[in-house]
Amino acid sequence: MLEVKKLGDVPHLAPIVASWTFDEWGQTLGRTYSEQLSMFEERSNIGKLPICFLALLDGCPVGTVSLVKDDNLEEFGVYTPWISALYVAPKYRGNGVAAKLLKEAGDTAKSLGFNKIYLHTPNAKEYYLKYGWVEKDCTTCKLGRTIVMYQKI
Ligand SMILES: CC(C)(COP(=O)(O)OP(=O)(O)OC[C@H]1O[C@@H](n2cnc3c(N)ncnc32)[C@H](O)[C@@H]1OP(=O)(O)O)[C@@H](O)C(=O)NCCC(=O)NCCS
Repeated sequence: MLEVKKLGDVPHLAPIVASWTFDEWGQTLGRTYSEQLSMFEERSNIGKLPICFLALLDGCPVGTVSLVKDDNLEEFGVYTPWISALYVAPKYRGNGVAAKLLKEAGDTAKSLGFNKIYLHTPNAKEYYLKYGWVEKDCTTCKLGRTIVMYQKI
């Protein structure tokens, strides 16, 4: 069974989220693993931002996404909240895990009173377009050229 939990409900799983995202982006962004872990420990909230979500397949962690106040793009600082660090472990890709994580993060943002969510992506614009995200702008971040997108929720 695939379920999505908040990291705050399974805090012992923070190291796996830190490890996935450190390998995927953290190193490139110049963070240490320990900084990456602290960042996710700070996302262990339940009813306020920032919140990290974990997808569990029969209890085994298979993916993650975060809902954060901002995602380090200064010129878009007035927009909030942002979907960040969407990641599914390679073996479990192509089974709708990311779609379920995005739905849960969107529903949570709505329940917190937001009516739009934002993200930026250097490499997965086509993926988000398929799920109803709209291209808003483009800019440059430490990962290179990145597309800013939004979705009404
Ligand atoms: C992008 C990612 C989260 C998708 O996870 P997933 O659970 O496999 O996603 P879903 O099952 O919901 O959707 C899979 C579909 O998305 C497509 N897809 C995956 N990555 C894509 C990309 N970068 N661009 C366009 N489409 C992509 C797959 O080809 C698949 O298409 P299909 O349904 O037609 O076969 C996963 O590939 C991943 O973790 N990638 C590395 C990190 C990353 O790029 N994150 C997003 C950055 S903002």
